[in-house]
Formats: sequence, C-alpha cells, structure tokens
Amino acid sequence: DWTMATFRQEAIARIREQVGTGKVLCGLSGGVDSAVAAVLIHEAIGDQLTCVFVDHGLLRLGEAERVVQLFRDAYNIPLVHVEAQDLFLKELSGVTDPEAKRKTIGRLFIDVFEAEARKLAAQDGKPVEFLAQGTLYPDVIESVSLTGGPSVTIKSHHNVGGLPERMNMKLVEPLRDLFKDEVRKLGRELGMPEIFVGRHPFPGPGLAIRCPGEITAEKLDILRHADAVYLEEIRRAGLYDDIWQAFAVLLPVRTVGVMGDGRTYDYVLALRAVTSVDGMTADFYPFDMGFLGRVATRIINEVKGINRVTYDVTSKPPGTIEWE
Ligand code: XMP
Repeated sequence: DWTMATFRQEAIARIREQVGTGKVLCGLSGGVDSAVAAVLIHEAIGDQLTCVFVDHGLLRLGEAERVVQLFRDAYNIPLVHVEAQDLFLKELSGVTDPEAKRKTIGRLFIDVFEAEARKLAAQDGKPVEFLAQGTLYPDVIESVSLTGGPSVTIKSHHNVGGLPERMNMKLVEPLRDLFKDEVRKLGRELGMPEIFVGRHPFPGPGLAIRCPGEITAEKLDILRHADAVYLEEIRRAGLYDDIWQAFAVLLPVRTVGVMGDGRTYDYVLALRAVTSVDGMTADFYPFDMGFLGRVATRIINEVKGINRVTYDVTSKPPGTIEWE
C-alpha cells in the first residue's frame, strides 16, 4: 500500500526527531493499536524502546500468552510482563459503577507503570523521558463529545492519562491521526501477522466492563470460557472479518432453568456483535437464528454457571457497543 508505506517512513522520521537518544516506554494493552505503535516505534529507535505489558487479569482466554510470544519471540522487542492479576482483582472488589471501574483500573495501570519506569531509569541512571501510546483519532474525539451538542463524557476512555504529568514524561503518539482501518493497514505494512492485525478492538479495562456489577475471579472465568466458545463459532462460520467487535457479557442475574431432570439457577450471558467503521456508531450484526441457537447450546452445555443466553439487538446510538 503506497499511502501506508509513505506514512510509515514519515512516522519513523518524526519519532526519531522527537525522541533523539531518549528512552521510551510503551504500554501494551493486548490490542491492535498499542501493538502497531510499539512495532513502528521499535523500527524507528530500536532498543531505546521498552514495552510494558500489564497483565490485569481482565483479558480474554490465552491473550496474555499471545502478546508475550509475539513481542518477545517474533519481534525480539524488550518486554516486561507484569503479573498484576491479584492486585487488580483485590482493588476492584466491591466496585460496581462502570466509571469507578475505569478509574480504579486507570489508577492501578499508572501505579504499575510508574514502578516499571523507575526500575528502567535505575538501570543506567537515565530517566525515561517518553511515554508511547496507541491513541487513535476516534479516541481523541470521542472522549470530547459524542452528541455534537454540549460536551458530555459518555465513557472515560483511559489510555495512561495522568502518568505523563506525574512522571514528567512526554507523549509519543504516532497513530493520533489514524482511524482503525488505517492502523490495520499500517500493521500489515509493518509485516505483522494477520491474526494480530485483523483482530477486533478490545477495550483497555477489558472484561471488567463486560461483567456488569461486581467482578469476581469466578465470574471472570465463566465469562472467558463462554466468550472463547462464541468467538470460536464466529471464526468457524467465517464471520469474524465481517464483524467489528463480538464479545460476551456476563449479566449479574441468575435465572431458573432445567437440565436433565434437575433445576438450575445460573447466570445469564448476553452475546454482542456489531458492525462499524470507527466505533462511533454501530449496527447490531444480523446473525441467522440457526447460528445463535448453536452458540447458545454449546455455551450452556460447556460452560458451567450459565443456563441462559440472549442476543443484544441494540445499535449505537442509542446503545453503546460495550454494556458499561
Ligand atoms: P462504546 O462502548 O463507547 O465503545 O460504544 C466504543 C469503542 O471503544 C471501546 N471502549 C473502550 N476502549 N477503554 C478503551 O480503551 C475504555 O474504557 C473503553 N470503553 C469502550 C469499545 O470496546 C469500542 O471499541
């Protein structure tokens, strides 16, 4: 792609110019944006870049392993894998409000990051001057206003806001002018594997905002398992690339069911899938009923703790893509 080849060269020149010989820290979320930003920056400045992957225990099944493998093994990019699952779960216990979840997660990210930046600075006594983020154009505008009217914050999309000021760091945001489809093109231009580049967006707060109400380790396990079955069926049906985002939401509601000749009283799972070009508006995906029925049967048979499955047919607006 000619445009992306040019963008790549220009972005690399801009990064070198901004960073000079300074050290850069980049937070990997497991998503496409931060991964593409990291690979681009690594191409520009090599091992002046260190990536930090904070594993908050709110990722999908097998995601953490995939991220670590891609960066360490495929790209040989220095990567610190921080296992912070227990910390996040402990601090999130009793937190039920969606924005409170985001704030708690954002604050912990900053704490963990700050500690890693200090360690990195201590290695040779040189401070980390730059923080890299995979901020996209829609991130920049959506946190400003979604209604076009007076500025209302619908959801506070944290990247690592707050850290730069506290640590006296400057931001490196090479994707700030791009939309998601352009980031994917750039990722392909950089030779990143399709399985990574073509992946659906995944929110920073992860499964915490797909578990309305209180988050527990047990609920997260149930959700991870059900979500994996749902995505496996979507891939198997060849629908993955037609969908912008698909995921499961574990509702804090139990309903009565019957299994064999016994009564069950288990959680309800909601399935969500939408089409979109940039996440700002979205339509629910029109699966056929046969597909939905198959997914529901598999989930109820295979995932202990769920006895009812529903499909969300709300578009955005008036709904948002995530439930929280
Ligand atoms: P909504 O739910 O606002 O989602 O329609 C639009 C897009 O943003 C993602 N999203 C988030 N991403 N931090 C993120 O990094 C967040 O707090 C957050 N909330 C929503 C969502 O997955 C969708 O792609």
